[in-house]
Amino acid sequence: MLDIKIQRTETPKAKPAPGQKLGFGKIFTDHMFVMNYTEGKGWHDPRIEPFHNISLSPAAMVYHYGQEMFEGLKAYKGPDGNVYLFRPDMNAKRTNSTNDRLVIPQLPVEDFVQAVSAVVDVDRDWIPSDPGTSLYIRPFIIATDEFLGVAPSKTYLFMVILSPSGAYYESGLAPVGIWIEDEYVRAVRGGIGFAKTGGNYAASLIAQQKAHDAGYSQVLWLDGVERKYIEEVGAMNIFFKIAGKVVTPSLNGSILPGITRNSTIQLCKDWGYEVEERKISAEELLEAQKNGTLEECFGTGTAAVISPVGKLRYQDDVMTINGGNIGPLSQKLYDTITGIQTGILPDEKGWRVKVGG
Ligand code: PLP
Ligand code: COI
Repeated sequence: MLDIKIQRTETPKAKPAPGQKLGFGKIFTDHMFVMNYTEGKGWHDPRIEPFHNISLSPAAMVYHYGQEMFEGLKAYKGPDGNVYLFRPDMNAKRTNSTNDRLVIPQLPVEDFVQAVSAVVDVDRDWIPSDPGTSLYIRPFIIATDEFLGVAPSKTYLFMVILSPSGAYYESGLAPVGIWIEDEYVRAVRGGIGFAKTGGNYAASLIAQQKAHDAGYSQVLWLDGVERKYIEEVGAMNIFFKIAGKVVTPSLNGSILPGITRNSTIQLCKDWGYEVEERKISAEELLEAQKNGTLEECFGTGTAAVISPVGKLRYQDDVMTINGGNIGPLSQKLYDTITGIQTGILPDEKGWRVKVGG
């Protein structure tokens, strides 16, 4: 158990009003969690402080070689007034798999969950309750040694900041257009694709800009070797419903093992769908589209929740899926997952974690 010191702000900020359009990740709450790591001492000084700018040496290693990691999860206010997290132990475990790859020290799962719960509890009045809103939680770790050599840092900062947010996409639950990228690649096996670290996102920006310029919301990446097989979208995993089966790329080391992906697979299996985790080529999608068996396509992610895809562009072809409308499976998944997250539906799988007393 961490012994967390709490220093409350003396100048609380105005909270967004009910009904106010929040956007995603633009507003921050009054507090943040901070903990230091020093080699030989381990993680120490866990504390909650007023949200404030931090001061680091310009030589801090994170600025130069990107030794950092982040996570993303949400807190929801239920109709009963309780505050819930969704499977936070999964974020904690993924933190440690990212940390291993980036040679960042391990963070005990229970300490991660305790830190997140504690800061959410302090700022629980910031959790919005309009439909489709939640408190987005961003835990992250940065390398702080003042040193320009390429080596793992000996000191780190773990922080958790909170942002009341609405839908990730401007369009909300309306289907988005996705650009299958065949020039740039995001990740290769043996690289850092499975890890949640800034470098993956920095590498994605140029293709995302290209997709935006062409009128698409996000990029769907192909594998880095053959540029043939579907991997994932910029901020979500991807699923297809083809001839009644649910199909998603397997976890091959170059895509993020999404928690919403894992939950979606479990729910679809419970509902009797055959779920295939396998290689899917862009050509197979084109073929399925032509013969009328590409029934649905949707992305899964914490920020994106279930995000229906209405249009997929691959080279000279534009595939319209389900007439550009949200499909029945996408809608059912969205309703079920958000229902479990917010406490409206029963939590048969034990995915919900209540915050505070
Ligand atoms: N893939 C990428 C690249 C992401 O950034 C995210 C978002 O976290 C996901 C997939 C979905 O993961 P999760 O469902 O755990 O949020
Ligand atoms: C999340 O869904 O939590 C993410 O981290 C996506 C993010 C890149 C906006």
